[in-house]
Formats: sequence, C-alpha cells, structure tokens
Amino acid sequence: MEKATSSVALYGGAFHRRITVRDIQRAKSVERWPMLTAYEQYTAGIFDQCGIPVLLVGDSAASNFLGYENTIPVTVDELIPLARAVVRSTERAMIIADMPFGSYESSPEQALATAVRFMKESGVQGVKLEGGERVLPHIRTLVAAGIPVMGHVGLTPQSLHTLGGYRVQGRGEAGAQLIESALAVQEAGAFALVLELIPAELATQITSTITIPTIGIGAGNQCDAQVLVWSDLMGLTEKPPKLAKAYRNLRAEITAGVQEWARDVASGAFPSEAESFH
Ligand code: KIV
Repeated sequence: MEKATSSVALYGGAFHRRITVRDIQRAKSVERWPMLTAYEQYTAGIFDQCGIPVLLVGDSAASNFLGYENTIPVTVDELIPLARAVVRSTERAMIIADMPFGSYESSPEQALATAVRFMKESGVQGVKLEGGERVLPHIRTLVAAGIPVMGHVGLTPQSLHTLGGYRVQGRGEAGAQLIESALAVQEAGAFALVLELIPAELATQITSTITIPTIGIGAGNQCDAQVLVWSDLMGLTEKPPKLAKAYRNLRAEITAGVQEWARDVASGAFPSEAESFH
C-alpha cells in the first residue's frame, strides 16, 4: 500500500497540544511516522521540537542510560524519574513508558498497580508491555481502567534468556503464531503494536491484517511507524545493533569536543578573557 505524505497528521504537523491515541489511530494507512526513545530532558525537548509524535521512555534506558548490560535489571523506581523528566521537557509528543521486567507479569492486578504509578507519578499518557497471549488479561485490565496500552511482540528483550539471545522471531511456521498474537493483542484493546526483529514480509502481513498501527524496529519498512533507540540513531552506542542506522556520529563529536577542551585547560587557553570576570 502506498502511504500518502501530503496530509501531514503526526510528524511535525500543526498540533498545538499533545498527540493523542485517536491521532495515532487515525494516521493508520495515511502517514508513516517516527518514534524515538527518550530518557532525559535535553534530547526529549529536541525530539519534541523536531515534531517526533511519540516518545518512548523505554526500558532500553537500562543499557543506554543507566549502565546495565540488558533491560532485565531496571526497575519502576528507576524509570519513573526519567519518564517525569521527559514529560516535563515536552509539549507535543505523546509520552509512553515501558513497564519493566518484573513489574507486571505476576497478574493483571500487578500490571494495573504499576501502570497507575507511571500515570500518576510521571504524567505519561500510556504504557507499553511486552508479550502476546500471556499478557492479554493484563492489557484488558489496563484498558478497562482507561490506560492506553502499546503492545510489543516479536523479539521481546525482557525474555532474552528464554529466547536464547537477540534473535529474529517469527521465521517459518512461527510466523502464523505471531499473526495470531498480534490479532489477540489488538483484540485485548492495545492502541498500537511494536513489532521487533521479525521478517519484513511478516511485518507487512501483520500491518495489513490488524487495524491498529504497527511500529517496526528491525521489521522492514512497511510498518505504519518506525522506532529506534535514540543513541543508536545518533551514533552514541559503541556497538549498535544491525537493525539500527547511525545518522550522525555523536560519539566522535563528543570525543573531539572533550579532547579539545582538555587541551585548552592544559595550555591555559580556557578560560579565555571571554569566559573570565574582573
Ligand atoms: O525499550 C525500548 O527502547 C523498546 C523499543 C526498542 C521498542 O522497547
């Protein structure tokens, strides 16, 4: 399906308020839009001013902001201050918070208590949780309580050890099961669905089968939206995954800037008269 770019709906459009779930749903098959992770005020503010319509306070903050090896250790208490900072520094983007591992799996009640904390304590507009059939009661409970839920199937990094690593999901016969999962998550009430690391053809099929927007990461270019971890996009990450493309090399930029300043400190060139007081 050819997607029109002429009727601007979400990216950089003339919204003078936060993007809502209704805006996201209306953009299906009309506009292909970008989503980024955000974990703190400066980048969140820049992404918002760029017109990125949805920012995800991902549990990827674990390994891209908090120094953990993967997403498993990060807690609700660690993510809430990040979500609060992102909400405070933005005006237009819809802000979604990831429910971290261990904060929702036990029961729909646990999921509701965690989601309520994110909504009340950080001001996000919705939450994301990983999984298909096993989290349907959880999604239903949150939606019934008025909390927008973004689903996430395919590679679900919180299940890293069960999946045996960051491997492509849904190849061969497993594809049919993934389509069923996508339909079930939609049926449970999710307003959008992340498809991570699955064959492009399968993502295309899911995108045309379900009526809620699909958000791809390593899922080909036919999803309704694309999401990336911002530090992968900007070349901060030392070893970015194959699914990401670095559009800038911030690691090199920062390195060069710091080295230049350190040399100036050693030589006495910084501070100069311009930065001095008399
Ligand atoms: O935590 C995260 O950044 C995510 C995206 C990669 C979808 O879940």
